[in-house]
Amino acid sequence: MTVTQGFLDNRIFQIISKAARSKGVRAFVIGGYVRDCFLGRKSKDIDIVVEGSGIELAEAVGELVRSNVTVFRNFGTAMLKYKGTEVEFVGARKESYRRDSRKPIVEDGTLEDDQQRRDFTINAMAFSLQEEDFGALVDPFGGIRDLAAGIIRTPLDPDTTYSDDPLRMIRAVRFATKLSEPGRRFTIVPESLESIRRNRNRLEILSRERIAEELDKMLVCSEPSIGFRLMEETGLLEYVLPQLCRLKGVENVDGHGHKENFTHTLEVLDNVAAAETEAIAEGRLSNFEFEDGVEVQKQRTEPYLWLRWAALLHDIGKPATKRFDKETGWTFHGHEVVGARMVPKIFKSLKMPLNEKMKYVEKLVLLHLRPISLVTEEVTDSAVRRLLFEAGNDIDDLMLLCNADITSKNPRKVERLKQNFELVGRKLAEVEAKDAIRNFKNPITGEYIMELYGIPPCRQIGELKEFVKNAILDGIIGNNFAEADVLMRKHASEMGMKPVK
Ligand code: CTP
Repeated sequence: MTVTQGFLDNRIFQIISKAARSKGVRAFVIGGYVRDCFLGRKSKDIDIVVEGSGIELAEAVGELVRSNVTVFRNFGTAMLKYKGTEVEFVGARKESYRRDSRKPIVEDGTLEDDQQRRDFTINAMAFSLQEEDFGALVDPFGGIRDLAAGIIRTPLDPDTTYSDDPLRMIRAVRFATKLSEPGRRFTIVPESLESIRRNRNRLEILSRERIAEELDKMLVCSEPSIGFRLMEETGLLEYVLPQLCRLKGVENVDGHGHKENFTHTLEVLDNVAAAETEAIAEGRLSNFEFEDGVEVQKQRTEPYLWLRWAALLHDIGKPATKRFDKETGWTFHGHEVVGARMVPKIFKSLKMPLNEKMKYVEKLVLLHLRPISLVTEEVTDSAVRRLLFEAGNDIDDLMLLCNADITSKNPRKVERLKQNFELVGRKLAEVEAKDAIRNFKNPITGEYIMELYGIPPCRQIGELKEFVKNAILDGIIGNNFAEADVLMRKHASEMGMKPVK
């Protein structure tokens, strides 16, 4: 018996132990918390399994710690918060399936019954909360052995575990991605991989929201490519994001092949993850969020999910725009425009939010070639101002994505491009410091024009504002009211407009 000291120092465990004793039931910590203790990772919540009623024990604990208990009667679970940590209680269950019905018979069960209905051996370990063996590890399926070996295995035959909840097929991939570290990969055991391949079409019965949630969790990992490659190998990707599968393969014409876009996409995704992690550690990135209608800037402390989505989808328009030209070889002209248009469709198909986060992804996909195109052109202030204007506050993320997109088999080429790209970065900083374009607000407002010329809302107002904006972006005038006003009045008079005051 392994007695695990130190893992249960949080006072809540003693309190639960006491409450369970007074109710005459046995309680255990189970699942992710136990796994993460052994991995030395911080777990955000605690799951408690009770041989008896989870709801009743939660209510008893709630009284002891004076905390509100939220009860989910349909699921037979209850939850309370203790010092910021969510503690969830569930009664141990035994599920069995009748041959003639997919509906399980759920009965109260023992800890072991419950453990064998869980997804993976590494998630089925439990710590005892009984006074006589407080902290003892209960691990009938060898979770600790699999954790040490970096193995993802189901407690029962994988076909049974995956048919109980097909989402577990994606969860297997997600845990392989999340738990892997540089030099230490977690792998899914071969019989489980085969079972996933066999049962992949069962994903069809899942809600798209649950699938998207797993994808989100995979994307914010430090090496997200692991998950997407595994999904591709097992055939899950075809059900999850078929558009990404279309990036696979290399076509050859007259001995000319193009870049393998699936591999490239995954490389960019990992590059973005690494670069973002570094930039966060150095405090170089911000999030911009609206609070009560005002945009607030906050230093980024965690991976930004939507930047990861932008990286995953940046080349999604390539298959639809692929052409072979005898002179220039393979081209993907306009793939950024086609790709940006695909973003809302993909978000919709996964029931993801169709809000400003989606707009951000759309924008990054649309603009992802712009910074690098400045490398080959002469970098004029005006081109830089236009890029700053279009990217706005997302310019730093766009630059990060674009830099991560520089991949080639030729390291000298990568080095040269990266150096030139740094020049673009410096130029952007210079122009921004001088002209403050990224939060561009036209110094001439519509109300001002209406008042000055005594006119109602009309087409001319938009035309004048656009004229002023372009003059500022082209560097004809500075970004200030005085110069903008002189220019606007001149142009208005050429349009035949006269001020009323
Ligand atoms: N579980 C399961 N099958 C599922 C979902 C969850 O068996 N489809 C069990 C596992 O024992 C898991 C526990 O419920 O450990 C809690 O689930 P969840 O919070 O989703 O996962 P964690 O293991 O806590 O990991 P993470 O918080 O990283 O998602």
